[in-house]
Amino acid sequence: MWKKVYAWLDERLGLNDLYKNLLDRPEPKGMWWNTLGSASLFLFILQGVTGIFLTVYYTPSPDHAYDSINYIMQGVAFGWLVRGIHHWGATLMVVVVFIHMLRVFVTASFKYPREMTWLVGVGLFLLTLGMGFTGYLLPYDEKSFWATTVGTQIAGSVPIIGGFILKALRGGSELSALTLQRFFAAHIWILPASLAGLIGVHVYLVMKHGESHYPSKED
Ligand code: HEM
Repeated sequence: MWKKVYAWLDERLGLNDLYKNLLDRPEPKGMWWNTLGSASLFLFILQGVTGIFLTVYYTPSPDHAYDSINYIMQGVAFGWLVRGIHHWGATLMVVVVFIHMLRVFVTASFKYPREMTWLVGVGLFLLTLGMGFTGYLLPYDEKSFWATTVGTQIAGSVPIIGGFILKALRGGSELSALTLQRFFAAHIWILPASLAGLIGVHVYLVMKHGESHYPSKED
C-alpha cells in the first residue's frame, strides 16, 4: 500500500531523482570531522523549532519579559526542557560552527574552487554570533541588561560610524524597551532568515563542488 502511494507521488514529484541528485553522494570514509557541517545544520533547525515554541509564551517588553521566562520555566509543561535545549543549544551551535570552521581551515578546504563556500561560511559564523548576542538580552534580567549595555558600548566605539551603530542597536542613546523590541525582531526574524538563506547557498556550493578530500601521500 505504502509502495503504491510512494510510486504515485514519485511519478508526480520526481522524489527518486531528487534523492539521487541531492542526497545520494558518498561521504569521504571515516572522516568524522566532515560531519560538523551537518551537525551545525541540525543545531540551527533545533534552535528554530525550540525558539518557535518559546515565542508562544515569551513577551518582549521590559515589564513582562522576565516574568514570561519565569512562567515558561515553572508554569508551562516541559517549558524548562524546551528553554534548556534552546539555551544550551545556542552555546553548542557556536562551538560546533567554530570547530567546523577550524576543520575547513586545517584541511585547507577553503582553496580553489571553494573560496565562495568559505566566504559564505564567514557570514554564517558572524550571524551565529549575532544570534547569541541578540538572544542574551531577551530574559531582561540584570545580567543580560548590563552585558548588552557593555556589548553595544563596544560596538559603538568603532571610529566615525560608532555613534550611528550604537543608536541603531539601542534604538536611542540608552538601553530601553525599543532595544528589547529590536533585539527580539533581529533574533526571531532578521538573523534566522538571513542564516537560512545563506545556509541554502552554502549547502548548494558544497553539493556543487563535492567534499574536498584530505591530502594523501601522492598529493
Ligand atoms: C550555520 C553554520 C554552517 C552550516 C550549517 C554549514 C554547513 C556545512 C555542510 C553541511 C557542509 C558539508 C559537510 C562538512 O564538510 O562538514 C559544509 C562544508 C563546508 N563549510 Fe560549512 N557550515 C556552516 C558554517 C561554516 C563556516 C563558519 C565556514 C568557514 C568560515 C564554513 C566553510 C565551509 C567549507 C569551505 C566547506 C567545504 C568543505 C569541504 O569541501 O571539505 N562553513 N558546511
